[in-house]
Amino acid sequence: MSEKKVIAVVGATGAQGGGLVSAILNDTKGGFRARALTRDVQSEKAKELSRLGAEVVAADVDDPESLKKAFEGAHAAYCVTFYWAHFSPEKEAAQAAAMARAAKDAGVGHVIWSTLEDTRKWVPLSDDRMPTLMGKYKVPHFDAKGEADRVFLDLGVPTTLLLTSFYWDNLIHFGMGPKKGPDGTLAITFPMDGKLLPGIAADDIGRCAHGIFVKGREYVGKTVGIAGDHLTGAQMAASLTRALGREVRYNAVPPEVYRSFGFPGADDLGNMFQFKRDFNEAFCGARNLAVARSLYPGLQTFDQWLAVNKGRIPLE
Ligand SMILES: NC(=O)c1ccc[n+]([C@@H]2O[C@H](COP(=O)([O-])OP(=O)(O)OC[C@H]3O[C@@H](n4cnc5c(N)ncnc54)[C@H](OP(=O)(O)O)[C@@H]3O)[C@@H](O)[C@H]2O)c1
Repeated sequence: MSEKKVIAVVGATGAQGGGLVSAILNDTKGGFRARALTRDVQSEKAKELSRLGAEVVAADVDDPESLKKAFEGAHAAYCVTFYWAHFSPEKEAAQAAAMARAAKDAGVGHVIWSTLEDTRKWVPLSDDRMPTLMGKYKVPHFDAKGEADRVFLDLGVPTTLLLTSFYWDNLIHFGMGPKKGPDGTLAITFPMDGKLLPGIAADDIGRCAHGIFVKGREYVGKTVGIAGDHLTGAQMAASLTRALGREVRYNAVPPEVYRSFGFPGADDLGNMFQFKRDFNEAFCGARNLAVARSLYPGLQTFDQWLAVNKGRIPLE
């Protein structure tokens, strides 16, 4: 039997990395082995990955030495950061740089960097259509990722820049599910007017990443964007209505109203949705559905995702 190539997966116990590890494990005839990186090899999730056949390795993206060790001997690596764990773009940048450096030092042959647009290329800080946040960002959790693209490229790491999309899982875990309005009717609220929101099942991101690694050199040096559907808020509400058997409306609010909601990160997300709304053609164009499906033919649409996950969406 030929030796399988190791893919080191950051965030292996999470959404994106978890999808990739399961795609590698399910592809028993494929040429890859999964090396799952985690901060706690004793956690239930880590032990489960080990039981399923992954090599589980301790690493922390805040500890460059641990990353270097974890990337040693790996053919490929999936690199992702965890903005919502700390809300610090500077920390995210440092973590991305540590991963890029570790990949370079370990001679990793193919890295996928899970990134998003640096929105300041479209909305410079001088542009006051949306507020500047934390002194030098428009959409902090996008901008820091986009800015980090250069670190991978400047170090000469063979990289695919993977532009991800809004997780539909945010309806379950991120407080974005339907809420009752004053008249008792459920509604989802986004500041997107009638524009299209590219969305994806979070674990399909990892499955598409697996497709990129399978295609190999074809995607090195390229930027690829993925989504499972491009839908308006009204279309999402109609799908939710059908799936839940209860009326769900789309409540389109202006971005400044969304920014004022007061939950942690509301200003960041308000700017994010405004960016997606105001540069809708470019944003959707960068996330081609057919390309995503070519990477993972089982890619879920929103209706398919809802059929499986509707019972997990918390309803008031
Ligand atoms: N929500 C969305 O719609 C959306 C859309 C596009 C992109 N994103 C981006 O996705 C990123 C998060 O990815 P995700 O959703 O896959 O994360 P996730 O599901 O929250 O998983 C995070 C996993 O990473 C590990 N982790 C956390 N901190 C770590 C550290 N310091 N070092 C090593 N591992 C660490 C944790 O595993 P252990 O505890 O086992 O170490 C955890 O299981 C964010 O940067 C976000 O901006 C989100």
